[in-house]
Amino acid sequence: MNSSGYNKMLNLIFSLPEQFELGLNIGFECGLIKPKVIENVVIAGMGGSAIGGDIVRTLSLQTGSLPVIVWRDYRLPQAVSPRTLFFAVSYSGNTEETLAAYREAKRCKSQVIAISSGGRLAQMAKHDGLPLLSVPTGMPPRAAIGLLTIPILVVLSRFGLYPDCKKGIRDTARLLGRRLHNWHKRAQRISRLLDGNLPIVYSTSRLLDVAAYRWQCQLNENAKVMCHIGQLPEQNHNEIMALSSPRFLAQKGVLIGLFDRTTHPRTIFRFRATLNLCKDAFSRFIFVNSEGRSALARLFSVMIIGDLVSVALAKRRGVDPMAIPKIDELKSMLASYRGKR
Ligand code: F6R
Repeated sequence: MNSSGYNKMLNLIFSLPEQFELGLNIGFECGLIKPKVIENVVIAGMGGSAIGGDIVRTLSLQTGSLPVIVWRDYRLPQAVSPRTLFFAVSYSGNTEETLAAYREAKRCKSQVIAISSGGRLAQMAKHDGLPLLSVPTGMPPRAAIGLLTIPILVVLSRFGLYPDCKKGIRDTARLLGRRLHNWHKRAQRISRLLDGNLPIVYSTSRLLDVAAYRWQCQLNENAKVMCHIGQLPEQNHNEIMALSSPRFLAQKGVLIGLFDRTTHPRTIFRFRATLNLCKDAFSRFIFVNSEGRSALARLFSVMIIGDLVSVALAKRRGVDPMAIPKIDELKSMLASYRGKR
């Protein structure tokens, strides 16, 4: 593999602080009329376009005033109504599940906002006279995580559904700017341990569940490896019985524990006790602690180390972190499939 894919993906990760600034502008500059009544928020998207929704949902659990549902499918949940603030997010603008969800939300007369860099979604939103938050084109969607997250937070805060978030966003961008180089070095060391093993990522606080999921998706798409995730304390009530089975998994797991200051002290004890009880399952274990003040900063600090690990592991394995041929191929197979949309 030549190193151009690796360098491109790495540069995109290092561009996150700028994405935050641009995301702020996109969120503040779009013309929006505040809906009179909003009962819930639904964010529809797939893959790299949906994870920003997960971040917003997680943060809203702590400080937002409404339930946020993240939706990854064609048909919408029953809770969608004219009182729903509905975000349809597709970076390419051409993801069929998201387009179907957009159409259904329109049929339900929800307050629809589209977020995209172009494609069908942008065309439809313009044609339908609905607000469109345009993000710059030319990146893999998963690398546009700042652009696909920050504008949603800003819109929610403009509508009074989320606290003022400008300072938290700028602080997070500064933290990333300061720490990315060190995290990159750490990620390279972690990638050495993961090579040839199964990464098992456990979140220990509900703030970090989405970070564990991001680790998984990035290891899948960038490094092209399987990754297993779980959550403590829940893991202690089921999965603990299954570690190192089937037998070929014994000593093949590298356990990565994600920790935050919201991790309960008894969950820290549980993590250590689990390690003691299940020594056979893991060849190594790694602690990743969140950094920063705000929940947004702490969440991104843990998530981005995972992004950097996935790119470093791609390099070790000689695979291109930018290329996702099977996803592309599947999308073209679906494009020529005439079944009902
Ligand atoms: C590609 C990626 C994928 C896409 C997903 C949906 O970088 O991360 O998970 O995000 O296939 O496509 P979009 O984001 O264009 O709606």
